[in-house]
Amino acid sequence: EKGLYKHFMAKEIHEQPGVLADALARYLTPDRAAVRLPVPVDFTSASRIVLVACGTAHYACHVAKYWFERFARLPVEIEVASEFRYREPPLDAGTLGIFVSQSGETADTLAALRYVKATGGRTVAVVNVETSTIARESEVALPILAGPEIGVASTKAFTCQLAVLAALAITAGRQRGTLDAAEETRLSTALATAPGLLSRALALEPEIAEIARDLSRASDVLFLGRGSMYPLALEGALKLKEISYIHAEGYAAGELKHGPIALVDDAVPVIVLAPTDPLFDKTVSNMQEVMARDGKVLLLSDAAGISWAGEGTWRTLALPTLDPFVAPIVYAAPAQLIAYHTAILKGTDVDQPRNLAKSVTVE
Ligand code: F6R
Repeated sequence: EKGLYKHFMAKEIHEQPGVLADALARYLTPDRAAVRLPVPVDFTSASRIVLVACGTAHYACHVAKYWFERFARLPVEIEVASEFRYREPPLDAGTLGIFVSQSGETADTLAALRYVKATGGRTVAVVNVETSTIARESEVALPILAGPEIGVASTKAFTCQLAVLAALAITAGRQRGTLDAAEETRLSTALATAPGLLSRALALEPEIAEIARDLSRASDVLFLGRGSMYPLALEGALKLKEISYIHAEGYAAGELKHGPIALVDDAVPVIVLAPTDPLFDKTVSNMQEVMARDGKVLLLSDAAGISWAGEGTWRTLALPTLDPFVAPIVYAAPAQLIAYHTAILKGTDVDQPRNLAKSVTVE
């Protein structure tokens, strides 16, 4: 039940620190200094990883690509299930397919899993519903432990998917000898801080509700990010469009000048997701290009980032200072709250947005 919340979506957004902590308790050692998967996965025989999913789960895979490449130095492809299955790409026994699905019943993701099995590849499912078809048909099924997700827009499943994929990427790095013990400890310790950081990010809700007043009057909104924040820009835009029906697009910040900047004027809010990471300066220069064209920038960063680059922006949201590794998990919270509060002001049905179904069991 919804309890004190008006919508399942609000309840599920606020459940994240708790469910994420529970999930991490199953994926980290008790001292939080290393990763320990509940079911073993072998990465030593893989020559490449293919991550397959739809929608929000696909964006979780997109974030994971950055982690697997960096920690395990393996070639990684990310695939939209509906495209992958009909392309019939050449695969071999060295392919490790990872299928991410909240429901575990998405028709295209299931078909992609069957395709990888038929071509001799190995299969790992990352699911919320442990009794689902995708969980049953894969060789290994890893639970994300988010608990039932009722709101059609995926929220807590996304952050729990990220936590499990992070644990998998660290495991892959350890097994392949590309990540040493000290680095595993640093990453695991950072991952353990995610629930607390996420709850601090959720405390920005009153400010976000205020910003949503202006966003709810926009007809187009752009989201920008670089590196592992690029998929968060895509996810922020998807969340906003699906529940508020405002047209929104996410772009890699560096792609802006290759076309989308033509859309920018003083009526288009541009939401920049920019923790202070090694790419921060690059993102800031893209943001300044937007401001030079009268774009209304909402900058999401930490205190240092905002004091460095906040001048001239329309609004800022100060997120906690964090290890950039966990930024995709923590910045998901404001992205979800931006969509939620904008939709509330638009008066849409946030738990049951028009035309959408929670589980897409037909292609
Ligand atoms: C967006 C959303 C969808 C799902 C997608 C995959 O908020 O919920 O994009 O992420 O339909 O569903 P699952 O994860 O059940 O395979």
